[in-house]
Amino acid sequence: MKVFDIAPVRFIDDKMMILDQTRLPGEEVYIEAQTKEDVWEAIYHLKVRGAPAIGVAAGYGLYISVRGYEGREMEGFRKLVRETSEYLNSSRPTAVNLSWALKRMERVLDEATEKAGGGLTVEDAKGLMLAEAEKIRIEDEESCRAMGEYGLSLLKPGMGILTHCNAGTIATAKYGTCLAPIYLGKERGYDFKVFADETRPLLQGARLTSWELHKSGIDVTLICDNMASIVMKNGWIDAVVVGCDRMAANGDGANKIGTSGVAILAKEYGIPFYMFVPTSTIDLDTPTGDDIPIELRKGEEIYQMWYEKNMAPEGIKTYNPSFDVTDHKYITAVITEKGVVRPPYDVNLRKLKNE
Ligand code: MRU
Repeated sequence: MKVFDIAPVRFIDDKMMILDQTRLPGEEVYIEAQTKEDVWEAIYHLKVRGAPAIGVAAGYGLYISVRGYEGREMEGFRKLVRETSEYLNSSRPTAVNLSWALKRMERVLDEATEKAGGGLTVEDAKGLMLAEAEKIRIEDEESCRAMGEYGLSLLKPGMGILTHCNAGTIATAKYGTCLAPIYLGKERGYDFKVFADETRPLLQGARLTSWELHKSGIDVTLICDNMASIVMKNGWIDAVVVGCDRMAANGDGANKIGTSGVAILAKEYGIPFYMFVPTSTIDLDTPTGDDIPIELRKGEEIYQMWYEKNMAPEGIKTYNPSFDVTDHKYITAVITEKGVVRPPYDVNLRKLKNE
């Protein structure tokens, strides 16, 4: 299958199908999510991951979790939706697209209830939820396409580009955020040379980014995370592109652990650092990066997960934050679907969001 045919979440024949990203690059397998627990587990275990794709999964996931409600009372249905939304929202804390999509699904019900003056039926409500989930997916695809164009306007043919984690097509509805300009550039003969950080401990760069770029015929070189400095020093990198899980109102951006180190290195070597942030990922209710909740994961991911034997002594203490925050001072520009945002971010992000 071609990369763009491999959507992270599909809703076909009334079934919610999730590409199990934990099995990539070896197997391209879809699993069906039938219950709220299936959806929660798929998000928690990163079967579906990447902020926008988590948002898409939350939309369909909330719908499939409540569609079995057999009562006719809107009040009971609304309560179930609220409780299920809270439950799904507890699966991963950092990517704001999760709560953003869930709130959006709830808001559509509240608005329709108000408009119908109490005349909304449970069946109508279910239909509205499915339509909203579809809308979230379609809008994300359009948003990625637009970010691709804006991103490409900052890049030149033949450039060397470093990326961290996976903000590609399988992290979104389609095309990716920071990989979208690379795909677009490929269509237009830009001939980029991409360097993908492996991205320990869950290897999204090695397993996912290098898989999707290689499959698409893009020149990609996989490096270990600790090789970012040498490729920059060698003069092989002209721009760094990364995604984002939540951008605070002042422009601090949380992304996969290791991103902030890459940004600091880029500054040292005078390389522009571009963060791709759909407006759904900009959270004006979070004032600064210090207010972003950072997900902590199990230590086994560091020393056990990919190895036959434990790669650390028995009983070792671990610290495994899944994300870090890049201070806005290291971000050259923020690329959104509405345009390229430059500092001062505290002013310009708010302006953009309210446009
Ligand atoms: O833990 P993950 O794999 O969900 O982390 C993903 C990232 O950090 C991505 O860079 C981010 O979600 C942006 S995806 C377009």
